[in-house]
This record gives sequence, C-alpha cells and structure tokens, in this order.
Amino acid sequence: MSTSEVERGVGEILIEEDRLQERIRELGREVSEDYEGRELLLVGVLKGAVFFMADLMRSLAVPCEIDFMAISSYGAATDSSGVVRILKDLDINIEGRHVLVVEDIIDSGLTLSYLLRNLESREPASLEICALLTKPERREIEVPVRYVGFEIPNRFVIGYGLDFAERYRNLPYVGVLHPDLMPEGA
Ligand code: IMP
Ligand code: MG
Repeated sequence: MSTSEVERGVGEILIEEDRLQERIRELGREVSEDYEGRELLLVGVLKGAVFFMADLMRSLAVPCEIDFMAISSYGAATDSSGVVRILKDLDINIEGRHVLVVEDIIDSGLTLSYLLRNLESREPASLEICALLTKPERREIEVPVRYVGFEIPNRFVIGYGLDFAERYRNLPYVGVLHPDLMPEGA
C-alpha cells in the first residue's frame, strides 16, 4: 500500500481506527445508561473534538443536542500555556441543562479547568467531561473527568481531530507525530 501525503507525518500509529471506533461505541453505551431518562447537551470544544463528538453522538441512545465553543490558549504550537480566551461562546443557555463537555485530549488540564469553572457559573443541572484521550503524566491541575477513551503516554499525537499546526486532523486513527517534524524543545 502506498503512503499518502498525510500519512508521512506519522511516526507510528498509536490507536488503530477499529480500536478507536469500538471504544467510542462502548463510551456511547455507558453515557446512554448513565443519562437514561434525561436529555443531554453535548458541548464540543472546537476544533479537535468535532470528529470524536460526531461518532460519540451517533452511538447515543438518549435524546441529545449539540453546541460548540472555541477557545484559544495562547502558547506554542505543541504546548498549552493555561491562559485561555473564548473565541466562540455557546449559542444555547445551559442553565438547568445536563451538559457533557466533549474534548479530544486532556494534557495539562489547564484548558478544561478554565472551561469547567466558566460553565459551572452558568448553573447547569449537571456538568461532566468526556475526553477521548488523556495524558496523565502531563497533568498540572486535577480535572474531574467522568469518561475517558484512552490513557496515552506523554507523546505528541495527531489524527482523528488532533492537529499539529492545523494539519493531520483527517487521519482516521491516532498517531504519533513523526520525530522529524517535532519542533525543537517540544
Ligand atoms: P491542556 O490545557 O494542556 O489540557 O491542553 C489541551 C489542548 O491542547 C487540547 O484540547 C489540544 O488542542 C491540545 N493538545 C494537547 N496535547 C496534544 C497532542 O498530543 N496533540 C495535539 N493537540 C494536543
Ligand atoms: Mg488543539
């Protein structure tokens, strides 16, 4: 099989497409059981969570809506500074709603920690987090994550929504960025 232009950015595949999709179906079943009899609002964090959210939502058996937020953390391409700015806020008022924040990856935890405090102040009926990936070694601040897809080692990953300088989101699997492309000091 020939290597596509996109795949040349991949050092190795960390989570194959099949495993990814199987785990997302499991998460969907778990979330559906936990929220039985309730209506769910999925809040996706743009842009990385879009792919995960689309698949997760299709495996949910409870009535649900979606909305999105865009936040930017000022910082280098592969690092999070913890200073967060809202670029796009929710369209929906979440007061009294059951909110599940959907994230691609939790690294330091700083972004989500800020987001949680912000959303909490809007008085949702409940507020939980579902993250596809987490890098526990990198955590600087504890975030209460209810659902996790995979714990991964401290590597910079791309694919299935995750980018390096906005590229590689279209890979159907999660891979490690090729060492030749990794910026100095990252
Ligand atoms: P945190 O605030 O350090 O938890 O950063 C979380 C955000 O950093 C994620 O939503 C991603 O956008 C980005 N990020 C962290 N680690 C990676 C990675 O390995 N690949 C791609 N993006 C990442
Ligand atoms: Mg990102």
